[in-house]
Order: sequence, then C-alpha cells, then structure tokens
Amino acid sequence: MNGSPLDVLLWLIIPYLALAAFVLGHIWRYRYDKFGWTTRSSQIYESKLLRIGSPLFHYGIVFVFVGHVVGLGIPKSWTEAVGITDGMYHFMAITIGTGAAAAVIGGLAILIFRRRTNARVFGATTKLDKLMYLMLAVVILAGTYSTIFESALGHYDYREGISVWFRQFWMLQPDIALMAAAPLGFQIHVLTAILLFAIWPFTRLVHVFTVPVGYLTRPYIVYRSKDPVRQPVRRGWEPNDF
Ligand code: HEM
Repeated sequence: MNGSPLDVLLWLIIPYLALAAFVLGHIWRYRYDKFGWTTRSSQIYESKLLRIGSPLFHYGIVFVFVGHVVGLGIPKSWTEAVGITDGMYHFMAITIGTGAAAAVIGGLAILIFRRRTNARVFGATTKLDKLMYLMLAVVILAGTYSTIFESALGHYDYREGISVWFRQFWMLQPDIALMAAAPLGFQIHVLTAILLFAIWPFTRLVHVFTVPVGYLTRPYIVYRSKDPVRQPVRRGWEPNDF
C-alpha cells in the first residue's frame, strides 16, 4: 500500500468507517426512531426567510448532486468517447457548477442567518444541528473554493485524481496516493464531506431519504396562526346538514 499511515487513515480507514456509520446509522434510526425521521421543520416559527432560503438551497443542491454524479461517476474516457472534449466538459461544469454553488451558498447563508437571528428557531436548534450546519458550510465553501482556485484556475484535473479514487473506493481497492496528491482545498472538501456522511443518519438530514420524492415540488404546508378572536365553543356534536 503506497501511502503514509496518515494517508491510510484519511483516505482508507475513515471513509469506510463513515460508510458503515452511514448505512448502519440509517437502519438503526429507521428501526428505533421512525417517528423522528423528519426535517424537524421550523416553518411554524418563521416563514418569510425560509421561503427564499430553502428553495434556493435545495434546487442548488440538486444541481450540485447531479454534477457530482457526472464528475465523480463517469470516467473521462467515456465523455471523450462520445465527443465531449475536456474544454466542453469544463465549460459546462464551471458555468452550471458556479450557478449551482452560488444558489447553495446564498441559500445556506439565509438559512443560517435565520436560524441564528430568530430566537424561536434558534431555540429549536440542537447541538448536533449546529455541528451539522458548520460541517455543511465547510464542505460547500471548500468545494466551491477548490473548484474555482484549484481546478479551474489551478488546473488540477480531479477527473484523473479524486474521481478515480472515488470509483475505486466502491470496488474496494482505492489508490490512496491519488487522494494524498490532491490539493489541500479538495482534501478538506472530501474529508469533511465524508465526516458529514458519518453523522448524517443522526441529524435532520435523514429527510433526504424521505419517499415520496414529491416533497421537492409539494406546496408549502400551511400553518394557520391562532384566531385572535376566540369563538364561543359549542359543546357536543356538530349538526350535520342532511
Ligand atoms: C455532502 C456532500 C457534498 C457536498 C454538499 C458537496 C458540495 C460541493 C460544492 C458546492 C462544490 C462546488 C460547486 C460545483 O462544482 O457544483 C463541489 C465540488 C466538488 N466536489 Fe463536492 N460535495 C460533497 C461531497 C463530495 C465528495 C464525497 C466528493 C469526492 C469524493 C466530492 C468531490 C468534489 C469535486 C471533485 C468537485 C469539483 C467539481 C467541479 O469542478 O464541477 N464532493 N462539491
């Protein structure tokens, strides 16, 4: 195995432990906390900022996710075989990727600002939530930083490094030298993402695996405020009309 003990820890042991925590954690959570499988929505406390921040973040993250599936999952030789040159690939990745990253960062900034400034939303925020938001922010900022400064401007080709390691990881033979050679920003991005996956099942992020998927397009749940004028309460059954 070619790599220092630290590289073995970072790019072999921790990733597989995180994968185990992710899978077993979800099974455990589903079995023992099925009714806690929720976003723990705070819309009832505040909805104006949520209405802007939440869709911005979520639609952005869908694009980022698709970008990762293509960038990490599809070998460079395949895209070249169907006539997509390196230049074309990077043009698409940078234009769509930057737009998506801007939406994700803007959305997350609004969501964190809202959570911090609204006392009731902040009150409903657990310690684990705070850790999760912090890690999410580091993952996203490091990913955007490295995409711009290490990939686009710095000319690191992640499709010949990180992406190859990523596919080898699923075939149980990752070449850790590939990750050890990646620029620091990308290493921070990947490692914090891996640690985020390890705590994922114990956070509100479980809602990502909520079926039905119609959640993405469903209308907002309407929360009604309490009627300030108290109506006299009639005791007994409501009369019916037939
Ligand atoms: C929760 C998990 C993750 C989140 C939220 C995330 C987020 C991001 C963001 C916002 C960007 C920059 C914008 C973009 O290009 O779309 C990015 C880029 C990137 N990420 Fe991640 N990431 C995650 C996990 C991972 C993992 C596990 C890997 C690799 C093993 C990875 C590898 C990359 C690469 C190679 C890029 C550059 C992509 C490009 O230039 O298009 N990411 N990520």
